[in-house]
Amino acid sequence: MKTALITGVTGQDGSFLAELLLSKGYEVHGIVRRASTFNTDRLDPIYEDPHEPSARLFLHYGDLTDGASLRRILEKVQPDEIYNLGAQSHVRVSFDQAEFTADVVATGTLRVLEAVRDHVEHLHREVKFYQAGSSEMFGAANPPQSETTAFYPRSPYAAAKVAAHWYAVNYREAHGLFICNGILFNHESHRRGETFVTRKITRALARIKMGLQDKLFLGNLDAKRDWGYAGDYVEAMWLMLQHEKPDDYVVATGESYSVREFLDRAAACLDIDWHSVVAQDARYLRPTEVDHLLGDPGKARRVLGWAPKLSFDELVKKMVEHDLELAKQEATLAKAGHHTMLRAVRHG
Ligand code: NAP
Ligand code: GDD
Repeated sequence: MKTALITGVTGQDGSFLAELLLSKGYEVHGIVRRASTFNTDRLDPIYEDPHEPSARLFLHYGDLTDGASLRRILEKVQPDEIYNLGAQSHVRVSFDQAEFTADVVATGTLRVLEAVRDHVEHLHREVKFYQAGSSEMFGAANPPQSETTAFYPRSPYAAAKVAAHWYAVNYREAHGLFICNGILFNHESHRRGETFVTRKITRALARIKMGLQDKLFLGNLDAKRDWGYAGDYVEAMWLMLQHEKPDDYVVATGESYSVREFLDRAAACLDIDWHSVVAQDARYLRPTEVDHLLGDPGKARRVLGWAPKLSFDELVKKMVEHDLELAKQEATLAKAGHHTMLRAVRHG
């Protein structure tokens, strides 16, 4: 049985990856940040009581800003594969919390790499490492972007991801470690955080449909993204670590759409005219925007045999259907006098 360790296991991708690895027979260990409220909701479908002899999912408290915790977990778990997905992953927030973002995203990656380097040297074990790189690293570079496109980061988040990317390349070359950088374009799902634009739109339009809110405030509707499905993208992460040679890969669909086009599709699924409910709020604009991301996934297709399965329209429909169901449940609760979910959604 192979053992995997995932940083960021409680996030969108972490939950899909943990599911995928469990389905492949892995023992899965995840690092969870301590919080005053439960932050493991996305793992509910796969949660197992660790006391059960059959349990294969284990969670450990740790933090990418705390190197000692990372080293301790590594010694204890002795993983065959590490997936470094933990991050302050919101681009807009990174302009307000630049130092924190760099500490988690750039230095946090360096902390894990340093721990892995020592672990491999002392125990003479092979550990394969996946680094969650981002299409944001391309920033202002002209589309389409591929593995050979020069990075031009446009936010503290993107600059930190570029640093993490080069740390990873250097540790591969300097210390002979098996490290892959996945350069993933935007990928979404019904588990996407509610402050990213796709989920913000599907959540709000579904609530508008159910009469739970009347307005949706957004920023720049003209930005274009190459949006895929998170469930497909975690498979690419796994495939990279199964290949005989460590390398870097772009993971994308090869199609891009604007935020406006996403709105069109989502509103059509609900039979809503979004023009009457969407308003602009400058707080959602970025000081430096990334206008157009469009990936060339040719290398991942040729070398790994990877291709996205869910289309853009299917993705939008899946997210809308999920959020309409949530809104219906919320409407039922609201009728019974419960208004607990409104605050979280209004400020998303
Ligand atoms: P996400 O939903 O925001 O999840 C981020 C994860 O990192 C969460 O588990 C979060 O914990 C954890 N985390 C945050 N700060 C941490 C810290 N200091 N120490 C340890 N863990 C910490 O992000 P995602 O969409 O799953 O993305 C996964 C990774 O891929 C991230 O590195 C992201 O930057 C990168 N990426 C994402 C996309 C995309 O479109 N989704 C594209 C390219 C790259 P909490 O749950 O406690 O907050
Ligand atoms: N979040 C948000 N909220 N974005 C908005 C809004 C809004 O109200 N209105 C317009 N947008 C625009 C943003 O300006 C951006 O151009 C686009 O929608 C997508 O924004 P996000 O969904 O926040 O994603 P992102 O592209 O900035 O970053 C995501 O993808 C990266 C990969 O390219 C994140 O998941 C990053 O972690 C990831 O690396």
